[in-house]
Amino acid sequence: MPMGVRWFSSVLGTTRVVTVLRDKPVDQTVKVNGWVKGIRRQKERTFLDVDDGSCLTKLQVVLPTEQRPAALAYHSAVSVSGVVHASTHKGQQVELLAHEVQVVGGEMTEEYPFKARQTHPPDYIRRYPHLRARTNAFASMLRVRSQMKMAIQRYFEREGFVNIDTPILTANDCEGAGEVFVAQHSDEKKNDDAAIPRTEGWYFDHPAYLTVSGQLHLEAMANGLSKVYNFSPAFRAENSLSRRHLAEFWMAEAEEAFMEGGVGLEMLIGRVEGLLKVVMAEVVETGREDVEAHWVRSKGTEELVRRTIDQPFTRITYSEALDILNKSSQFSTVVPGDDLGREHELYLTETLGNSAVFVTHWPLKCKPFYMCTSDDDPQMALAVDLLMPDVGEVAGGSLREHRLHSLLARHPSHTLPKDQSDPLAWYLDLRSLGGGVPSGGFGVGVERLLQFLLGISNIKDTVPFPRWVRHCPC
Ligand code: 4AD
Ligand code: MG
Repeated sequence: MPMGVRWFSSVLGTTRVVTVLRDKPVDQTVKVNGWVKGIRRQKERTFLDVDDGSCLTKLQVVLPTEQRPAALAYHSAVSVSGVVHASTHKGQQVELLAHEVQVVGGEMTEEYPFKARQTHPPDYIRRYPHLRARTNAFASMLRVRSQMKMAIQRYFEREGFVNIDTPILTANDCEGAGEVFVAQHSDEKKNDDAAIPRTEGWYFDHPAYLTVSGQLHLEAMANGLSKVYNFSPAFRAENSLSRRHLAEFWMAEAEEAFMEGGVGLEMLIGRVEGLLKVVMAEVVETGREDVEAHWVRSKGTEELVRRTIDQPFTRITYSEALDILNKSSQFSTVVPGDDLGREHELYLTETLGNSAVFVTHWPLKCKPFYMCTSDDDPQMALAVDLLMPDVGEVAGGSLREHRLHSLLARHPSHTLPKDQSDPLAWYLDLRSLGGGVPSGGFGVGVERLLQFLLGISNIKDTVPFPRWVRHCPC
């Protein structure tokens, strides 16, 4: 453990539950702060399960029943001082014999939504986003989420990528899907200050949005740093109540320069597969206790995840996907140029051995303006979507159109000669000024990857404060 951490702990004078359970400091006096997750009262002694969020396993605290504070209740916050003893109870090696238990943070009220010895379904727990960190399953998910974010960054660090903070406020709708949130000054009058003339009440001189993706900015940085990634929230004003869409979600995006053609697409696919396998394997290891707790609740997920880590992902083209879908009687005919819906995505993963499936070589029509077309077919994008069982699309990427003339033909505002007020003028500079090289990249939705890894059916249960259409309560 780094020196600083010990110093910090000893100044506060408290020890975390995970440290007591791991280090087993028998006969030492410690002070533990946490929340009571279980109370078993016997005549002489009362047993408490204390949880401070540092791990899933609770610390058993034993106190003489007559010393039990009157206010002690399920989910009370407590500060416990006592001596660590070797435990004779099955499944635990140490317990804390308390000489003092203080209830902190006030008494639990009748209105408190979580009750002892009741199973609260996810839909119920989700109604209390501000309180749900105190429930076991949600706290577990948050620890795994934290591990996953670290694992993603470790992967990119090891592979020599530079982390870039792409902007949240942006002038472009990268994906061109018209699902941007507009960012404006809240007080129109302040915008009228004559010293800083502004156009049409915009804070900037033009409309600004919350980013839907940092990709275009990453492309600029890749042309200079070669390998870059971001880890950023992305915002999409999708009118969706589905179990896999959030209005605010987190994406890890990577961009690599000098990636081109068929070989480039292969490299890109290999990169996505490598990242996901390494991240899942690491999180299964580092977050084992929490991951396994989820797997107990979600039958089949463990086997699915382990197989996904061990086996090569399946690869098919978009036209092969259509052949498979159109052989099934479950759907109406999918014609070339149609995008795939969630039902199609799940059918493909299921039919192809319940495996992760890359779908490559998409019709340009289904994909954003920046994607590179194939030399063999100008209507085909060198793009890839990764579909995972039970969840559907988890990652999407492509090679980028580096040829100025092809890009201009599909560029949203489509102006020639180049107009400097065009919000994408700088993006065209990357192609027109020289020194810009072909690149490729992708984005992985962190919440969807968590859904897959832990078998969580609703994406709203993978993020502390979910936002979706008409829902942004706190
Ligand atoms: O496929 P998408 O839209 O790709 C991009 O944004 C590219 N610019 C990425 C890149 O090439 N740098 O989004 C990437 C991933 C999806 O595969 C999905 O996992 C996730 O982001 N995603 C969402 N997750 C939750 N809620 C939403 N509304 C999402 N939209 C996309
Ligand atoms: Mg996509």
